Amino acid sequence: MWIFPFLPDQASTTARQVDALYFFELGVAGFFTVLICTLIVAFAVRYRRGSNVDRSRPPLKGKWSELVWIGVPLILALMMFTWSAALFFNNHEPPGNALDVSVVAKQWMWHLQHSEGRSEINELHVPLGSPVKLSMTSQDVIHSFYVPAFRVKQDVLPGRYTTLWFEPTRVGRYHLYCAEYCGTNHSTMGGWVSVMEPADFQRWLSQGGAGPSMAEQGERLFVQHHCAGCHRGSQTVRAPRLEGVFGHPVPIQEGRDIRFVTADGTYIRDSILRPKAQVAAGYEPVMPSFQDQISEQDLLKIIAYIKSIGAEGAAP
Ligand code: CUA
Repeated sequence: MWIFPFLPDQASTTARQVDALYFFELGVAGFFTVLICTLIVAFAVRYRRGSNVDRSRPPLKGKWSELVWIGVPLILALMMFTWSAALFFNNHEPPGNALDVSVVAKQWMWHLQHSEGRSEINELHVPLGSPVKLSMTSQDVIHSFYVPAFRVKQDVLPGRYTTLWFEPTRVGRYHLYCAEYCGTNHSTMGGWVSVMEPADFQRWLSQGGAGPSMAEQGERLFVQHHCAGCHRGSQTVRAPRLEGVFGHPVPIQEGRDIRFVTADGTYIRDSILRPKAQVAAGYEPVMPSFQDQISEQDLLKIIAYIKSIGAEGAAP
């Protein structure tokens, strides 16, 4: 058991790092609180009215004391800044080998889907010791994905993708919360993250109607919504091929200039819903919008499909 019972369990690599920084800052704040309070009380007693102490020749200058009270707080503040910035960037960039899980939040539930295909509601199963990356979006208002035991929290916004990653270090079940007030039943919008032994997780993943992977489901939608008619095979007159596009820069015509945007999930989502906003250079803006025709869950599947063909060819 964790020695401080007022803190949640420490169940991820991030939790250890965040707690180390937290206790360092708590220690610094505690040290100065005690130091300053002690000095206030000591001086109040020593120099109280009527006490018999030497009050002549008070010092007017003190180079060393000035240097210390400027230098020490400066060094401490810079230490906290570099430490927390390093932690922030580390927690911002998921490792390349992370497992992909898609998250769609809606009033008032969490819908989670593993890239292997299995989906769950208000429950997330993850293997011990592997980094897990969540790609998250909301179907309605702003929510926030919060697992205190992992010390991770990230807002989930409508109309764009945010990511979050963690690496569980202890088997167990940990509370998942929505940490952004999102309407009447906000307080009930929660669930559990179950950390399992890797072998148990593989067994769990393969049982219970796992079905096709997200990318396979996405390919089916790709054909069903007639994307394949223009974006696949030799049909490159009206629209660019999508093999090898994911994660690479795409040239966008802007007046006479060419601008490059990275074809990530957000760009693909925008291209499906608002295709005239950022048209690939060399093509006419002929694609119709699929706004309100494809659900957030299906958009994530189509993106998973385009990502899966991303590695097959070089950038166009
Ligand atoms: Cu969703 Cu609060």
